[in-house]
Amino acid sequence: MKNKIAFITGTSKGIGLEIAKLFVENNYFVIGTSRSDFDLRAAIGNENCLHLKLDATNRNAVKESHKVLTKKNLIPSVLINNAGITRDQLFLRMKDDEWDKVIDNNLTSVFNISRIFIKSMVKAKLGRIINISSVAGLMGNAGQVNYSASKAGIGGFTRSLAKEVASRNITVNCIAPGFISSSMTEGLDDSMKNKILDEIPAQKFGNPNDIAFLALFLASNEASYINGQTISVDGGLFMN
Ligand SMILES: NC(=O)c1ccc[n+]([C@@H]2O[C@H](COP(=O)([O-])OP(=O)(O)OC[C@H]3O[C@@H](n4cnc5c(N)ncnc54)[C@H](OP(=O)(O)O)[C@@H]3O)[C@@H](O)[C@H]2O)c1
Repeated sequence: MKNKIAFITGTSKGIGLEIAKLFVENNYFVIGTSRSDFDLRAAIGNENCLHLKLDATNRNAVKESHKVLTKKNLIPSVLINNAGITRDQLFLRMKDDEWDKVIDNNLTSVFNISRIFIKSMVKAKLGRIINISSVAGLMGNAGQVNYSASKAGIGGFTRSLAKEVASRNITVNCIAPGFISSSMTEGLDDSMKNKILDEIPAQKFGNPNDIAFLALFLASNEASYINGQTISVDGGLFMN
């Protein structure tokens, strides 16, 4: 990448923080976001990054942040839509709020952020968008109708946008993590964890780093002919 600036949502912990670290280690300047206050420079131990307190569901705030970054000449060539939440519930008991929040945070946020940042990529005729979806969006998962729908939606978004912008030297791909050790999975009780482990051929959870290295590759020049794909990183849980 000529312009090594990456914008990554959800970098205060878990997979997003690990991606941010790896990108900074590989000479990217990283703009990271989360809804909470966070000291990304201290967490990474490097000044080549900037944290924005930004809720990806807030369209006005996304527009304002983009203006601020443009003034600072921080125009990303790589966008990683990583922020996501779960509100697990059996469908028969699912409340409006549990559906709305998950769709808004996981899917509409990808629209909000991509729509703003893709314009400069089209102008530069160079860009990478990497969306973090989930194995749940491919296989389904009981108790996650809302989450699975949001992540499957990201797959459709990715393939359609990839077709629209491929001729501009922009790729749009998805990474579909399986079960990765992070705050999102640490709440699972032991019996659920053992049930899941029985289904994973690798018989272990993955690490945030497993996702980060694929993101780094997809952002590279060497990945320029990979487009519209959903690549699973899940220890073999979902095999197509
Ligand atoms: N861990 C897994 O096993 C797994 C599996 C499949 C897919 N994934 C996907 O991978 C991504 C990262 O997951 P994770 O396990 O690292 O989760 P995590 O540890 O819960 O971290 C989520 C990050 O997203 C931020 N965030 C959430 N909503 C946001 C919003 N509206 N705007 C800005 N930031 C927001 C959070 O910070 P704040 O709360 O401060 O905003 C946090 O930094 C998610 O999209 C998740 O669905 C994870």
